[in-house]
Amino acid sequence: MLVIILNISLMNGVFANPEKSISDIPLIPFPNSIVQTPGKFSLDENVSIVMVGENLRNEAEILNDHIHLRYGIRLRVTNAKSARNAAINLSIKKSNENNQLSAYRLISTPDRILIEAGTSTGVFHGIQTLIQLMPPGNVRILDIPCVNIEDKPRFSWRGMHLDVSRHFFPVSFIKKYIDYLALYKFNTFHWHLTDDQGWRIEIKKYPKLQEISAYRKRTLKGHLGNPKQEYDEIRYGGYYTQQEIREVVEYASKRHINIVPEIEMPGHAQAALAAYPALSCTGGPFEVADKWGVFYDVFCPRNETFEFLQNVLSEVVSLFPGKYIHIGGDECPKDRWENCVHCQELIRKEGLKDENELQSYFIKRIQQFLSSKNKKLIGWDEILDGGLAPEATVMSWRGYRGGIQAAKAGHDVVMTPTSFCYFDFYQSDYPDEPLAIGAYLPVERVYGFEPVPDALSKSEAKHILGAQANVWTEYISTPEHVEYMIFPRMAALAEVVWTNAELKNYESFANRITSQFKMLDFFGINYSKAIYDIHESTYPAESRKGLHVTLRSSYPHAKIHYTLNGDVPDNTSYVFKDPIQFDQSTGIRAMLMEQGTQRGREYSKVFRINLATGKEIILGKEPHEEYSSGGGFTLINGLTGSMPWMANDWIGYRGDGLDATVDLGKEYNIKKVSLDVLREEVYGIYFPKGLRVLSSTDGVNYTSLKKLEEDEINPDKRLIEIEFPKTIARYVKVLVRNYGEIPEGRYGSGKPAWLLVSEIMVD
Ligand code: ACM
Ligand code: ZN
Repeated sequence: MLVIILNISLMNGVFANPEKSISDIPLIPFPNSIVQTPGKFSLDENVSIVMVGENLRNEAEILNDHIHLRYGIRLRVTNAKSARNAAINLSIKKSNENNQLSAYRLISTPDRILIEAGTSTGVFHGIQTLIQLMPPGNVRILDIPCVNIEDKPRFSWRGMHLDVSRHFFPVSFIKKYIDYLALYKFNTFHWHLTDDQGWRIEIKKYPKLQEISAYRKRTLKGHLGNPKQEYDEIRYGGYYTQQEIREVVEYASKRHINIVPEIEMPGHAQAALAAYPALSCTGGPFEVADKWGVFYDVFCPRNETFEFLQNVLSEVVSLFPGKYIHIGGDECPKDRWENCVHCQELIRKEGLKDENELQSYFIKRIQQFLSSKNKKLIGWDEILDGGLAPEATVMSWRGYRGGIQAAKAGHDVVMTPTSFCYFDFYQSDYPDEPLAIGAYLPVERVYGFEPVPDALSKSEAKHILGAQANVWTEYISTPEHVEYMIFPRMAALAEVVWTNAELKNYESFANRITSQFKMLDFFGINYSKAIYDIHESTYPAESRKGLHVTLRSSYPHAKIHYTLNGDVPDNTSYVFKDPIQFDQSTGIRAMLMEQGTQRGREYSKVFRINLATGKEIILGKEPHEEYSSGGGFTLINGLTGSMPWMANDWIGYRGDGLDATVDLGKEYNIKKVSLDVLREEVYGIYFPKGLRVLSSTDGVNYTSLKKLEEDEINPDKRLIEIEFPKTIARYVKVLVRNYGEIPEGRYGSGKPAWLLVSEIMVD
C-alpha cells in the first residue's frame, strides 16, 4: 500500500493557514495513507446514501442515525448498481486490494463520497472516518473535505476492557461505551463480568449467583490504602440478564465489535463462593467482598467446581458468538490450596510439582472444555505459571515479560502492560484529580506505547495480536467518571493499535485530539483536559545557588503564561520562553493560553529553597530503575513529590535503603533535616524502619546528629522532620533504612518493600 503524507499547504495552498498540514485533519486513528485534494463535498438533505450492489443497510442506517443525531437531517437510503453523484456511496469490492477484513478506501470529491472495502467491517470503519471528517458541533453548513484515504489497521486486536464488577454500569452505558470503541475503530470489548465484589451475568442454572453473588452489603469509602477504612453501609449490585447480554452482543455486532466475556477463575472468585461455598477449600461461609484487593478464598479444583464452571461457561458460550472466552487467571493466592487436603491429594495424584502446576492443571482442564465448545481460551499472564495450556492466548499485564515468554513459545499475545494500558491510573498529577487507584499514565505516555517488544524476532512478533487498555473500576463508580478516565487516552491507544508506527506523531495527535474536543462536547462526553496540564523540569542554577525551572505542556500548540508574585496568570503575564531562575523560595502560577483563551487548569507550585536545594548530591546506591529517572538531584530540586507519585519526582529503592550525601558548598549552621517520604502500603511502599542524619565539615569524618527508630516516626505525616542541636556542617548524610519484608497478611507479603523519597531539606 502506498503511504503518502504530504504537506499539501506547501504544494497548492489548499489550506488558509499555512502552518496547518494534512496531519492536522482531525482523524483519529490517523489513516495509513491520506492525500487531500481540492474542494469540498457539501452534505445536505438532497444527498442520499447509496448501497452499491450489496446490502449494507445496517451500516447505512448507523451512518444515517449519526447524521440525524448530529445535524437533524435524515438522508434517503437506496440501492444502485453503481456509485452516484450527490451521494455517499457504500460499496463492497472484493476484487480490490482492500480484501483485508478491516481495510477500507474513502474518496471524497466535490461530487460524491465513496467508501469502499472488501467487507462490511471495512465499510463500517470508513463510515467512522467520514463521521470524524464531519464538522464538529451543531452547524448548518456541512462541508466534508476532499480526501483520498487508503487505510487498514496495524493490529487485529484493538481492545478496551471494562470492569463491571467493582462498579456496575447500566446497559445504556455499555452501549455508549461500544459506540466510543466504534468511533475510534476498536474491534474488541473485553467485558470483565465477574470478580470478588460482584457477579454480573445471569446464569440460569445457578440462581444464587443472581440472588447472592450479584450484591454486596456495603462498599469501602475512599482509597484502600487509607489506614482508616470506612464503609458506606449501602447494599450495592446488579447483573445483566441473558436477554440484556444478547441485546448488547447484537448491538456490538452491528458495530463490528466482538465481545470477549471474562469469567474469573480460580482467583477473584469470592462473590461466586459467597453463594456456593462448597466450591472453596474451606467451605466458607463467605460474603461478597466489600473492599478492593486480592482475596485468599479461591475456587478449589474439585470435580464439583469443574462441573459448576463448565455449566457456567456453557451458558456463557451460548451467549457470546466470538472466538475467545477470557477466564481471568490473575492474582490467585495459593494459601488455601497449600492447606487443603483435597488440593494436596490432587497434586500428589496428578504428579504435579506444586500449587503453580495445580493452577496450570486447573486452566488446562478449562481449556479442554472450551476447546470442545470450539472456543479459544485467553487469560492474564499468570496462566504461564506452572505451564501454559496448549493454544492459550496470553494477556500480558505485568509488563511485557509474560507476553514475550508466551510469544517465544508460539502462543498468541495481547499486550496490556500496566505502565501504558491501565486507564484506572491517574492521567494528571494535578491535586484536584478525582481519586484513582494510583500511579501515573498521562495521554502522551499512552501515545508512546509500542506493543511489539524489541526482544521478539519478526516471526515471534506475529504472535502479538494487538493491545488493549483496561478500565478497573474500584474508584470509578459512574459512567461520567468512566468517560473521564478513557477520554482522551483511548484515542491515543487507538492510534497505537491502528496506525503504522512510523506515521505516529505526538504533536499532530495533540492537535487532532484537541480539535475533536468539540465533537466530544457535542456528544456530551466527560473527557479529561489533562493534556493541557503544565509540568516543570528543574535544574540546579550554574552558581549552585537556587534553581532553573522550565515549563512545558503535553499540548505543544499554546503559550504558557506565568507569574511569580502570586497573581493569577492571564494573557498579560510573562510568556514562558527561557528558564525561570530564582534563589529564594518561589511560587510559580502558570496557565496555558491558545489565541487568548485559557486551556486546562492553572498550574501552581511552590519551590522551597533551603540550604540543600540545587547543591551537589551523591547517592551511595543507584536507585531502582523504575524510580531513578531524575537522579539524585530529584531529592534537592525544591519540590516535594507530586501525588500520584511519578517516577521523576521520586527516588525509589526496593529492599534497599537510601544513602545520600549533600555537599552544601560551604559550612553552615544547621539544625533541621526534613525528608519527604511516601507511604502507600497497598502498593508495597512503606515508611522506613529507621533513619540517621550525620554531618561533616571535611566529607571524611562524620558525626551522628540524630537517629530515629520506626516508632519515633509519625506514620500519618509525609514529611519527617529531624531536629537536632545547632551544628556547623558542610556535608549532610542521610541514611534511611528500608522497611524490609512486606509483612504477613498484606498483599505482596514476603517481598521487599519499596522506599520512596522525594526531597531532602536542610535548614
Ligand atoms: C489484573 O490487573 N489483575 C489483570
Ligand atoms: Zn482445595
